Parts: sequence; structure tokens; C-alpha cells
Amino acid sequence: MNVVVMLGAPGTGKGTQAPLVAKRLRIPVVATGDLFRAAARDGTTLGMEARRYMDAGQLVPDEITVRLLLDRLGRPDATHGVVLDGFPRTSIQAKALDDALAAKGERVDVAVLIDAPEEELVRRMSGRWICRAAGHPYHEVFSPPLVPGTCDLDGSELYQRADDQPETIRARMAQQLDALEDVIGHYRRSGVLRTVDGLQGIHEVAAGITRVLAEAGIHIEDAVAEHDPR
Ligand code: AP5
Ligand code: MG
Repeated sequence: MNVVVMLGAPGTGKGTQAPLVAKRLRIPVVATGDLFRAAARDGTTLGMEARRYMDAGQLVPDEITVRLLLDRLGRPDATHGVVLDGFPRTSIQAKALDDALAAKGERVDVAVLIDAPEEELVRRMSGRWICRAAGHPYHEVFSPPLVPGTCDLDGSELYQRADDQPETIRARMAQQLDALEDVIGHYRRSGVLRTVDGLQGIHEVAAGITRVLAEAGIHIEDAVAEHDPR
């Protein structure tokens, strides 16, 4: 079983890079933000509750998030591993994940931190469009779709996330970065943290991730070889 955690501040490129890793390892991506957005779109109680926090730029409470994540990890497609995007986001979540994996004799193999300065992240999130069907991310300038307004991968409509408004971006940074530092510390202590410079193009970041995965004993074909990394 391979368990890869993608870490990074909002907008660093977790959602862009996680599917590239997952595809090569033939395991699913589990992105808690995408799960919450899907639940909110479906109008479930959990989705409505989560939306209140997301729209305010706050983290959804650990109790709700951990339950959602552990349910998802219990599904058959996660038997051989998972790439986690956006989880864990707090020390409590990191501990809950460790405990759940330890119960199966497993552990997090590597936590990849994509590191980029705040000004760059604001530029990335302000120009981001994602698809309705699966949340595939695009950027007006850095990663435009082939047909404006349409997802290259599944043809669904592109939209801008409610939490990508400038004031919510600021709130997300202000309210979530301390908890991210706690999670970084957690994985540094357990010896699985690897850092990739996120202030490079999408292909270069993908190559950096391939390298750090290899250092951690996970060998994947380089995404740069592909025609389109998305
Ligand atoms: P979530 O959806 O996880 O959002 P996030 O962590 O804020 O991260 P983003 O999705 O904004 O950024 P990303 O790193 O995926 O970047 P992307 O690849 O899209 O969470 C949303 C909310 O849900 C949270 O605020 C919270 O309320 C709640 N939540 C989720 N998980 C939770 C948890 N575990 N606990 C509690 N609450 C939780 O890239 C960004 C843009 O940049 C795109 O346009 C992309 O095309 C572009 N781009 C990517 N890489 C590059 C590059 N190298 N160069 C240029 N442009 C690039
Ligand atoms: Mg994302």
C-alpha cells in the first residue's frame, strides 16, 4: 500500500499534482476539499455544514473531516493506497490518519510539501477555474483549457470557486497556515517530509515530486514525458 500526502498552503498546486502521482501509482486521489464541495453541491447535511466554514475561509471541524476521510479510505478502491490532497490539515487529523493506518499495519510513506510564497498563491487562486464534474484545476494564464470554459478531461463546465474571492483567499491564508505548520512539523518528526520548490512551472514541480518520491522508495515514471500533465 502506498500512502502519499500532498501538503501545501492554499493554491500551491496540490490539486494539479496529486492526480499525476495517483495515475502513475494506479491509486485514487482523495481530496477532502473536493469531497466537501461535492457534498455541498448535492445539498447533504454534511455538505451544508462544511460550506459554512469553507465560505468563511476556515477549516471544517476535525470531527466531521476525519469521519469523512476514514469512510472514504474504507472504500475498496483505496485498498492499494491513496494520494491525499488537503488532508491532514491539523495535528489531530494527522494523528487520526496515523492511527487508522497503524491499525492496518501501514503508515504514511511520504509527505510532499509544495512550497511557494504567498503573493504567488494569490495570483494562482485568483486566476483559477475548476470543472464541475471532478474539480480539475485550470488557470487563465498558467494552465488554460483548450476550449475556454470547458474541461479538457471531461467536457464539463468550468467555474470559479466561491472561496477564491480575494477576501476569502486572505481569510484562508490567515486562518489555515498555522495549522499547516503543525502538520509539517508532524511529518518532519516522523521523518517522511520532503519539500519541492513550488515556484516553478507545473512540469518542473511534477519532476521535483517524482524525484522526492524516488528518494522515499516510490518510483514513478516522470510526468514531464507526457504531452499534457493535466
Ligand atoms: P481545498 O479544496 O483543499 O483547498 P486548499 O487547500 O485551499 O487548496 P486549493 O485547492 O485552493 O489549492 P491547490 O493546492 O489544490 O492548488 P491547485 O492545484 O488548484 O480546501 C477548500 C476548503 O475546504 C478549505 O479552505 C477548508 O474550509 C475545507 N477543507 C478541505 N480539507 C480540509 C481538511 N482536511 N480539514 C478541514 N477543512 C478542510 O492550483 C491553484 C491554481 O494554480 C490553479 O489555477 C492551477 O492551474 C495553478 N497552478 C498550479 N500549479 C502551478 C504552477 N506550478 N505554476 C503556475 N500555476 C500553477
Ligand atoms: Mg485543491
